[in-house]
Amino acid sequence: VEEKQGYKDRIKQLLKQKNAVLVAHYYTDPEIQALAEETGGCVADSLEMARFGNQHEADMLIVAGVKFMGETAKVLTPEKTVVMPTLEATCSLDLGCPIEQFNAFCDANPERTVVVYANTSTAVKARADWIVTSSCALEIVEHLDEQGETILWGPDRHLGNYIQKQTGADMLMWQGACIVHDEFKTKALSDMKALHPDAAVLVHPESPADVIELADAVGSTSQLIKAAQELPNKKFIVATDRGIFYKMQQLCPDKEFFEAPTAGEGATCRSCAHCPWMAMNGLKEIEEALIDPSGKEVFVDMALREGALKSLNRMLDFSA
Ligand code: 13P
Ligand code: SF4
Repeated sequence: VEEKQGYKDRIKQLLKQKNAVLVAHYYTDPEIQALAEETGGCVADSLEMARFGNQHEADMLIVAGVKFMGETAKVLTPEKTVVMPTLEATCSLDLGCPIEQFNAFCDANPERTVVVYANTSTAVKARADWIVTSSCALEIVEHLDEQGETILWGPDRHLGNYIQKQTGADMLMWQGACIVHDEFKTKALSDMKALHPDAAVLVHPESPADVIELADAVGSTSQLIKAAQELPNKKFIVATDRGIFYKMQQLCPDKEFFEAPTAGEGATCRSCAHCPWMAMNGLKEIEEALIDPSGKEVFVDMALREGALKSLNRMLDFSA
């Protein structure tokens, strides 16, 4: 405990000294989220993180999350020093969508509007016409469908299928998945629901379709937090990274939250409701990044930046 307090105190000092601000995702560890709140930073979903970093006047952004979030911040504000607790924190969606193959997919379907999820590299973003996060994906695809556009979607197939079902849009899908959400299991979730019949089920749309079907509310991290506050239920079964419980419990202290099951009895899972890359963000790494940003600083290719910026700004303007 004392050791942790030491880190927090030193980080607070360093944030002031360097005119830096801590921007954390809802999936990071509770102590990181609490520190971001205490120090005037933000705890948010991926869309709000991008907006916050873009609007803040700090010289330095410490992005506690995964690589695409740091890159998005750098694309939006290249004049700022953007650092991450570790540059090794990536995402299975980003890893599963290499630019060469994605380019070939786009080249083979030139008539389609390219819509990509924010969980991608700057190069993939630069290839996109639109970037979306799970907070605004549905509205943006709906809008494009109304304009009569057909869509090439990447990389998350579950989110893509969910949006396709909701909007009826013509979408050709890249077949990526999030290793965390892909693990939620329908049978085990139905069993859990039977045990807690009064619980509402909250599901992030990166989860498989049959899990989404059992949901009372489907949405991005911020939308699920809102649903926890607004639904009258006192119990919730939550199918997303367990990092989100920090904010849910803080906002709804009289409610009870259960992790949705990631595997049937006796089975194992790879990630068990906690993203291994989000988990790499620790207090020690944040202090190191503040003391010596080298090796932790995010850079993006300036030639790609322009393309990525155009589609990122399109998203920010649309969802303003
Ligand atoms: P949100 O945009 O809902 O926060 O989700 C992004 C994500 O998948 C982070 O892992
Ligand atoms: Fe990527 Fe899934 Fe981790 Fe989010 S939770 S960063 S989508 S692997």
